[in-house]
Amino acid sequence: MNKVDVVLGLQWGDEGKGKIADFLTPQYNVIARFQGGPNAGHSLKFNGQTHVLNTIPSGIFHSGSLNIIGNGVVVDPVRIKAEIERVEAAGADVKKHLVFSRKAHVILPTHRLLDAASEHAKGAAKIGSTLRGIGPTYRDKIGRNGIRIGDIVHPDFKNKYQAIKDEHLKLIDFLGYSDFDINVLEAEFYEACEFLKAFTFVDTEYLVNEKMKTEKILAEGAQGSMLDIDFGSYPFVTSSNTISGGVCNGLGIAPQHIGRVHGIFKAYCTRVGSGPFPTELNDEVGEELRKKGNEFGATTGRPRRCGWMDLVALKYAIMLSGVDYLIMMKSDVLSGFEEVKVCTGYKVNGTISTHIPYDLCNETVEPIYQSFKGWTEDLTVCRKKSELPANFKTYIDFLESELGMPIHIISVGPDREQTIVD
Ligand code: GDP
Ligand code: IMO
Ligand code: MG
Repeated sequence: MNKVDVVLGLQWGDEGKGKIADFLTPQYNVIARFQGGPNAGHSLKFNGQTHVLNTIPSGIFHSGSLNIIGNGVVVDPVRIKAEIERVEAAGADVKKHLVFSRKAHVILPTHRLLDAASEHAKGAAKIGSTLRGIGPTYRDKIGRNGIRIGDIVHPDFKNKYQAIKDEHLKLIDFLGYSDFDINVLEAEFYEACEFLKAFTFVDTEYLVNEKMKTEKILAEGAQGSMLDIDFGSYPFVTSSNTISGGVCNGLGIAPQHIGRVHGIFKAYCTRVGSGPFPTELNDEVGEELRKKGNEFGATTGRPRRCGWMDLVALKYAIMLSGVDYLIMMKSDVLSGFEEVKVCTGYKVNGTISTHIPYDLCNETVEPIYQSFKGWTEDLTVCRKKSELPANFKTYIDFLESELGMPIHIISVGPDREQTIVD
């Protein structure tokens, strides 16, 4: 039996999971998403073209791979229809290479409205949700009210949908939100459900466990460890388990079958949406990181908040997921800074700590930094570790010694080719 390897983000999302999942796909037969939904935006770049995937796994552009949307994912028929059409236009045979778990929950139009209504009601305290309906859909799943992909082909589907919709509309009305036309949203929803019927819906837990006997599977995470529903900066998190534990219940894989855990992190930090971010730079250095790193959301276009590398958060994420293979992204972005900093601890109420405080939202956390001399060389042209500048190597050596393991892959640009493997 082969073990299932994992790729996941160790920070607040957008670490570059899409690029790496696509880069690693030739080593695997199956790429499977296990949580999240269209709140994700995973960018891949090859042959001069950038592709952004939201719900479809990042193996879809390799004709030899099967891509699975696992039971832990939430699927919006309207958005995935548009995504499939986009990916097909780019040349992939999606019908042949994508299967859906019957048990994946469906994002209804009213889930999206509930997301917007709830954020609207929260005012300044809003989560900064992507407004894709993620929270309300997972809430209905846990509350045992949800609709699953398998229900779409059930004769009673429309009745089931109508009953839930009526409940949602009462709630939306209560929240004072009225800026929508449900008939328009419903028509596109039904059309998208019809479209999806041509795709394969199976009990993917059986498929995955069968495939494991002879084939290699990569589980592709979405979001990041610091957005995990249990361990992230609650309540400023997403609504699923983004850590490696999520692979077991999001795909139906027993813990002993989890293999290598690839942990992906940027050479600095970003966060999009609200919530605590101890190393955030609200100054011209942060602005420079955003500009050089083109730090704008792949799906929403929102500017990402930027800051220095946070080793307290990174070590926490490595611990939670049992990461044993590190991958550093966007190393090229740090070229040209006079000084590069790394947070090695937090000062919380006058006491130095290397743990994430219980209530990161209400504590005053002052990062303690180690400073490094910058470098000016262009890393995007480097293809071997030996070509990397000395000051950058000092930075990497420090990270490796702090993290207690090597960084196996260093990414120096968005393209597949711009990847240095140890
Ligand atoms: P994901 O959600 O983790 O897949 O990451 P996103 O796709 O949302 O964000 C990562 C962004 O960085 C995308 O625009 C990628 O094309 C880009 N990217 C990935 N790796 C690198 C890199 O090493 N250098 C640079 N400059 N950009 C990168
Ligand atoms: P990928 O997979 C970055 C953030 C949102 C918000 C919070 C909750 O591309 O890394 P949600 O829509 O899930 O209710 O939003 O989580 N968020 C992400 N940030 N990358 C993502 O995905 C994200 N998915 C959700 O900005 O703060
Ligand atoms: Mg993203």
